[in-house]
Amino acid sequence: MYKVKLYNNIAQVGLDTFNENYEVKEDLENEDAILVRSANLHDLDYNPNLKCIARAGAGTNNIDIKTCTEKGIVVFNTPGANSNAVKEIVFAGMLLASRDIYGGIAWAKTQESNENLAKDMEKQKKKYAGTELNGKTLGVIGCGAIGVQVANLALRFGMKVRGYDPYMSIEAAWNLSRYVKHDSDVKDLYKNSDFITIHIPLNDKTKDTINKETIALMKDGVKILNFARGGLVNEDDILGALDSGKVSAYVTDFPSPKLVNHPGVIAIPHLGASTAESEENCAVKAAQETMHYLQYGNIKNS
Ligand code: MLT
Repeated sequence: MYKVKLYNNIAQVGLDTFNENYEVKEDLENEDAILVRSANLHDLDYNPNLKCIARAGAGTNNIDIKTCTEKGIVVFNTPGANSNAVKEIVFAGMLLASRDIYGGIAWAKTQESNENLAKDMEKQKKKYAGTELNGKTLGVIGCGAIGVQVANLALRFGMKVRGYDPYMSIEAAWNLSRYVKHDSDVKDLYKNSDFITIHIPLNDKTKDTINKETIALMKDGVKILNFARGGLVNEDDILGALDSGKVSAYVTDFPSPKLVNHPGVIAIPHLGASTAESEENCAVKAAQETMHYLQYGNIKNS
């Protein structure tokens, strides 16, 4: 019997994926595997029997990969399992940054009579007038499972799309289609995009990818979206750029007290992958990978 220790609530369908050879619960010792969503495992007390950690999600920065590597503990994630959810919320963010739907809703809620509503409506239509996505250029930094989906949906919105990814696989390039302009130099993407969305992992090399210098290369009034990791964008630099009007909107899944009250910021509490479907997909895939690894000693990740 293999022991799998849970560190977060995992969708039931994922737990049901394990067969009778697995004991899966939170309260376990000497576990063979760990199944985790976003709990921080950096100070984990590793038991010598631990063979693998399955991350039900994409980013693995809640896990101390260096120590795991030293101890021979394999870490795997569930790439692609939540990319549809993230793709959809990126477009919600782009639409919110282009049309003041939120302001319009707030105004409508304050109206107490039909007469008033009708009287004020024309004024509000002017006040909350926005711009369209159609015809604008979207720059996608990072063309992995999520970036490719975002790029392809942008094309369907009538956007022009530029993509940058120094590590893009042939498969991803193929999926991106000939309608996406592949920038070999990210500066070209910065210079030519009306919207920039970032889909890369956070590490020492990518920290503060969006900073004073990179923002200076961008179009005036650019809108930036970050549904990847907070540390990819330097907060002081984005606030400065919002104040000066260089950046007209920053949509982020990583709210911080410093940012949230700026009128140009749209911040939500890491909801990018929070859909029932995505949680189930990640849980099932993580469970399947865990069973596969414990049984065969290798990673399938397909
Ligand atoms: C991910 O890395 O999978 C997403 O950011 C979602 C999450 O961590 O819950």
